Amino acid sequence: MNPSSRLRAFQRRLLAWYHTHHRKLPWRQTRDPYRILVSEIMLQQTQVERVVPKYHEFLRRYPTLEALAQARPRELRRVWYPLGYNIRPMRLRRIARRVLRDHGGHIPDSYDGLIAMDGIGRYTAGAVLSFAFEQDAPILDTNVARLLARYHGVRGNPARSRVRSRLWRLAQTSIPAGQGYLINQAMMDFGATVCTARAPKCPSCTLRRQCRSFPFDATARPPAPRRGPQRSRGALARDVAR
Ligand code: ADE
Repeated sequence: MNPSSRLRAFQRRLLAWYHTHHRKLPWRQTRDPYRILVSEIMLQQTQVERVVPKYHEFLRRYPTLEALAQARPRELRRVWYPLGYNIRPMRLRRIARRVLRDHGGHIPDSYDGLIAMDGIGRYTAGAVLSFAFEQDAPILDTNVARLLARYHGVRGNPARSRVRSRLWRLAQTSIPAGQGYLINQAMMDFGATVCTARAPKCPSCTLRRQCRSFPFDATARPPAPRRGPQRSRGALARDVAR
């Protein structure tokens, strides 16, 4: 199968899968950039299930950028505390203040505007652009990186910059024109629920026929080690799963 047919199959199958299997998450019921930003900062280091109740509580307490900008640090930390004692809430407050001061209260809808803020990296900028502004901006988190690496057979550790750059390029080319929102959400859900790190559901996977790491069943016993330089396909898939 040539690369462009594989890419089109990826897009078509993933979007079809998402249509029926997507998770119903509260931040998918809004395009409000403030709400999306809050959800993404919460999700940076915390599992979806733990974020959902906190997301509602946080937005009840701080329903707007203005309310957050005026938050008392002590109370803000208290509201955030179950998500971990860390600097994320204060960063979020700094972002809110800066948006009010420099952007007239509107969260920027450009990559450069977003990335200039402390606490917003390449992933979060892409998430805000695609989830709030529905732009065709790429995202790459660990779930998406694993899915893309396995599907396209990208070897090596995604923490290395060459591998990472390649995956970012694949994340960009995976977006069908005008569908950044859907494909990004779909890749996230697929990585989190089907193409998982330890127990991917390869036998029933909708992408298995095109996937360069199939057959790979992480639940099966690993193959006996081979002699010589040649590596098994299972080893390839395990590499990219890390
Ligand atoms: N993790 C980070 N952002 C997410 C999103 N929008 N949906 C599900 N998981 C996520």
